[in-house]
Amino acid sequence: MAEFKLPANSVVQDGKSFSAPANAKNTRKFKIYRYDPDSGDNPRTDTYELDLDACGPMVLDALIKIKNEVDATLTFRRSCREGICGSCAMNIDGRNTLACLKPIGDISGDVKIYPLPHMPVVKDLVPDLSHPYAQLASIEPWLKADSPPPPDGERLQSREERHKLDGLWECILCFSCSTACPSYWWNPERYLGPAVLLQAYRWLADSRDEYTGERLDMLEDPFRLYRCHTIMNCTNTCPKGLNPALAITEIKKMIAERGA
Ligand code: SF4
Ligand code: FES
Repeated sequence: MAEFKLPANSVVQDGKSFSAPANAKNTRKFKIYRYDPDSGDNPRTDTYELDLDACGPMVLDALIKIKNEVDATLTFRRSCREGICGSCAMNIDGRNTLACLKPIGDISGDVKIYPLPHMPVVKDLVPDLSHPYAQLASIEPWLKADSPPPPDGERLQSREERHKLDGLWECILCFSCSTACPSYWWNPERYLGPAVLLQAYRWLADSRDEYTGERLDMLEDPFRLYRCHTIMNCTNTCPKGLNPALAITEIKKMIAERGA
């Protein structure tokens, strides 16, 4: 698995300021983290004052407006603009969330925007997610079965079996939860983190999967699973309203029950 390194620079100073047009009446300042590891410069926060009467309602609208009209060098990820792709996850107003689902109107005062915490930064608001994606691959997030599917159709589930996947399949892998978790901050190399563990439980809970024992063997480890101390930041921050802490508890329960 790739070595996990935080940026050496952690000093954040005030950078440039951009004012709203002089005739703007409804203005708001956006203080945004800027960092280009290749430049050798320290991180800084640039301040962009926008006319909210000429801007869409969400924080992502403000970022797009800044990039299109004020400062094309600002770098961030986004794709779907409707809370489906997970790519616009960042720390807004002190909380990990999706910029496209976060109304500017819900924030009082300056809008402070940082990348997801405790991750290496590629540039500005773009974290390097190579490590959590490698961890995701390690749990083999796909259906594993040795018995062949029925010759005349798909592997079917009862309504009750399918219901067990609710609250799991909706995860969009934004990693807001993992990067809000102090246990993940402290042990990112060895602890899988709430997002990946929720995915692991999604396959453990699937009645069609035939590798439950092997999956539990892989997870039964002092670090991969048991670094979760039920701090609950994951569940509190999930922008999709999911409960990774409960999924982790269910995995621990499955391991305890098979040992009983
Ligand atoms: S559980 Fe929620 S916060 Fe975590 S990756 Fe999935 S959608 Fe994002
Ligand atoms: S742009 Fe896809 S979740 Fe925000």
